[in-house]
Amino acid sequence: MAKKRVLSGVQPTGSLHIGNYLGSIANWVKLQAEYDGFFCVVDLHAVTVPHDPTALAAHTQAVAALYLACGLDPAQSTIFVQSHVSAHSELAWLLNCVTPLTWVERMIQFKEKAIKQGENVGIGLLDYPVLMAADILLYQADVVPVGEDQKQHLELTRDIAIRVNGLYGSEANPIFRVPAPMIRPQGARVMSLTDGRSKMSKSDPADASRINLLDSPEAIAQKIKRCKTDMERTLEFDNPDRPECQNLMGLYELVSGKTRGEILAEAQTWRGWGDFKAVLTEATIAALTPIQARYRELMADPGYLTGVLADGREKAGAIAGQTLHTVRQSLGFWVL
Ligand code: TRP
Repeated sequence: MAKKRVLSGVQPTGSLHIGNYLGSIANWVKLQAEYDGFFCVVDLHAVTVPHDPTALAAHTQAVAALYLACGLDPAQSTIFVQSHVSAHSELAWLLNCVTPLTWVERMIQFKEKAIKQGENVGIGLLDYPVLMAADILLYQADVVPVGEDQKQHLELTRDIAIRVNGLYGSEANPIFRVPAPMIRPQGARVMSLTDGRSKMSKSDPADASRINLLDSPEAIAQKIKRCKTDMERTLEFDNPDRPECQNLMGLYELVSGKTRGEILAEAQTWRGWGDFKAVLTEATIAALTPIQARYRELMADPGYLTGVLADGREKAGAIAGQTLHTVRQSLGFWVL
């Protein structure tokens, strides 16, 4: 039986942090043996808010290198840059013309980002989820692993697929596969170091709020040392009234690979936050050191990375091109 296809992506809007790794990429790495994986760096999404043109290419390259450094394997998965496959933009246009405006105006993330941005909201920001639908539908993906915050965009993708199939396809010959979301479990969501109630984010202006995958051991130690805690001395899992404790214990569970039972036994020996922070620091550095070493190797050999991405562009482009061809035909374009 053919493997099911999985597709996901991250925006190159800054440096990746440990939340991106533990919440997304580590999960993709686990999936890649069982699924036919497509993982892209979604650079076209990164320009839906004002961006720095002198940094975009470097960020795109760094995110692609981090995909590999985190364990995505080009022998198993297709790794590519969204803008390298022009079918994404083309299908987004065609989907724009069949997507009711009211469907995208409802998107919570659009409303939030639009408010944050004030005056300067581009049409691309409103169109963001339609482009995301194009990313997914081009590859006929079966499953899309994303965080809770992307669930509404996945529902929109499904609605668009069903609408296009209904308008222009036939029951026997659907144009798009309707993808299923794979929402990551709450526990895999890493929160900010400065506020246990908000998500760790690339766009938070405070660098101290996150552990970047490329932070030095000293920086990691500093950030954990200064991060927000609470007044209690004991450490526990899953107490929603203690968001910082919940977050850091969850983080320790993920980076150490230990079971909760093992951690709670170990916690008996901690005299308080100070002892816990020391072991958390050590485990975090140990988890990131091999990724950083591999990243440095990759950056020292840029020809290898561009080769991987050129292969990815070719493989992704062939599949995306087929879907786009079918869509053009179904919509009635004059195809030569
Ligand atoms: N919007 C996604 C996010 O911010 C990124 C993304 C773009 C994506 N295209 C995608 C995720 C396609 C999954 C599939 O997380």
